[in-house]
Amino acid sequence: MPHPDERRTAAAVLVIGTGAAGLRAAIELAERGVQVLCVGKRRRDDAHTVLASGGINAALATMDPEDTWEQHAADTLRESYWLADPRAVELLCREAPAAIEDLVRYGAQFDREDDGRLTQRYFGAHRWRRTCFAGDYTGREIQRTLVRRAAELGVAMRDDVYVTRLLVHAGRVFGAYGFDVEDGTRWVIVADAVVLAAGGHTRIWRRSSSRRDENTGDAMRLAAEAGCRLRDMELVQFHPTGMVSPEESAGTLVTEAVRGEGGILRNAAGERFMERYDPERLELSTRDRVALAIYTEIAQGRGTEHGGVLLDISHLDRDLVLRRLPRMYRQFIDLAMLDITSGAMEVAPTAHYSMGGVWVDPETHATDVEGLYAVGECASGVHGANRLGGNSLAEAVVFGRVVGAEAARWSAQLDVQARDHAAIAAARDEVDELLDRRGEEFARPLQRAVRDLMAECGGVVRSDDGLREGLARLDEVAARARDLEVRPDIAGFDDLAHASDLHGSLLAARATLECARERRETRGAHNRVDFPEQDPALRANLVWTADGTIAAESIPGPSPAVAALAGGPELDLQGRLLE
Ligand code: FUM
Repeated sequence: MPHPDERRTAAAVLVIGTGAAGLRAAIELAERGVQVLCVGKRRRDDAHTVLASGGINAALATMDPEDTWEQHAADTLRESYWLADPRAVELLCREAPAAIEDLVRYGAQFDREDDGRLTQRYFGAHRWRRTCFAGDYTGREIQRTLVRRAAELGVAMRDDVYVTRLLVHAGRVFGAYGFDVEDGTRWVIVADAVVLAAGGHTRIWRRSSSRRDENTGDAMRLAAEAGCRLRDMELVQFHPTGMVSPEESAGTLVTEAVRGEGGILRNAAGERFMERYDPERLELSTRDRVALAIYTEIAQGRGTEHGGVLLDISHLDRDLVLRRLPRMYRQFIDLAMLDITSGAMEVAPTAHYSMGGVWVDPETHATDVEGLYAVGECASGVHGANRLGGNSLAEAVVFGRVVGAEAARWSAQLDVQARDHAAIAAARDEVDELLDRRGEEFARPLQRAVRDLMAECGGVVRSDDGLREGLARLDEVAARARDLEVRPDIAGFDDLAHASDLHGSLLAARATLECARERRETRGAHNRVDFPEQDPALRANLVWTADGTIAAESIPGPSPAVAALAGGPELDLQGRLLE
């Protein structure tokens, strides 16, 4: 029996997620005349994309004429420790300039030089300046632009819809089931194709640059339960610089643009410690190296009072700081009562980006389920073991357009689409069963338990003992989660969303810890104290299935032009290991 408050709707293509990747996909569909419905679990003008600060990469060569897309691809591949898929990377870098042109055409206001050229700043480990920006509000500007463009095109959009299950029949997706977070209305949305653009899983660490209730691993759970494989879940980027104080703001992003504009890192003794870890690139070394360096300084007792290091920009011109880093200025005044033009910030690593995620075809982003595409942070393949800053916004808009085109093509060629009533009933029963729970546990403390165990057992530095302990603790949390109390109230159905998020987090945490055990080497963001070397045999992606099996998948080589620029096969580990 349908739930009394259940509504049905249909679209040629359903997009789940209203951040940059989902919106760009929806825009592509609408521009092609395809009927699209876009749903998101939070307000579209406050999607996670608004937190992206420092910039978006494209080899436009506006500042450094020598730059090319091939060099961008070479930098990305090399710094991925060769785990990114060259086909995806080359597509990303080739198409990024056109993606920026699209954004400018839609009205995005990026910073410009006096002569009108788009300004580009340095980000870590890029050979040339290729990061476009809007102060340090780049994500906000892109989100605003895409929301406006989608509205101009009449894209149907619904905020506050939490998707609990993808509807699948015989290996083919035919829609999704969910509920309205405000009033609990159930939604059955049937569609020819579904684009999953619902974010990553970095909120499952205690310190995260994601806010509450975003990046909880729900996208990974939706995909895995629909029959998709997940890839490289252990490869999680810890951004080197998150706030550490006050405690309630700990983890909040301190943009890499601070270092791009000339910020200097010092330990509590005043030493510019990056001179020891990467004397050439210093603060603009790769994120994995800077994060590990900061971790090491703190672990070895050279940290600050609150357990961080100092990031100082006070030597720069005050006006430049206010123009280029207005958000950081405001953030530190608002949250820490610190004027960053005169005092140093305290920073430490924070879980920032899921480099692994749903397995997708490198060029189409099709998943293992027919008609289902994954894009943005929930997808995998572009960043390998270390992501270059500024590549995620580029990925969102480049592959957003790609999946829009692919989903349009899929929908157009479909003759018949099944509606499996048993699959709909199972999705409905799952929500009913959660709402009927009258147990002893609540979702919020269990979410906290997951975040604690991930921080303690699966953080910047890992070991087999720690990972096994993490899995044992996860089993305990999963057992407690079977005794949940889910109680929507007059304020809305948040409690149901928290319970669903918890299930996503449990699955994402398990995949992460299991794959992290399996990757018995140190590579990029994955540091194993018990396996401190790179293992050439593990120059492969680890593909996880919900039954717990993990298979290694080989990675093809890049095109000759990119290979020539990228250099030798293995990266020097010097400067990135624990001393
Ligand atoms: O530091 C930052 O502004 C983050 C950028 C990114 O993750 O790409």
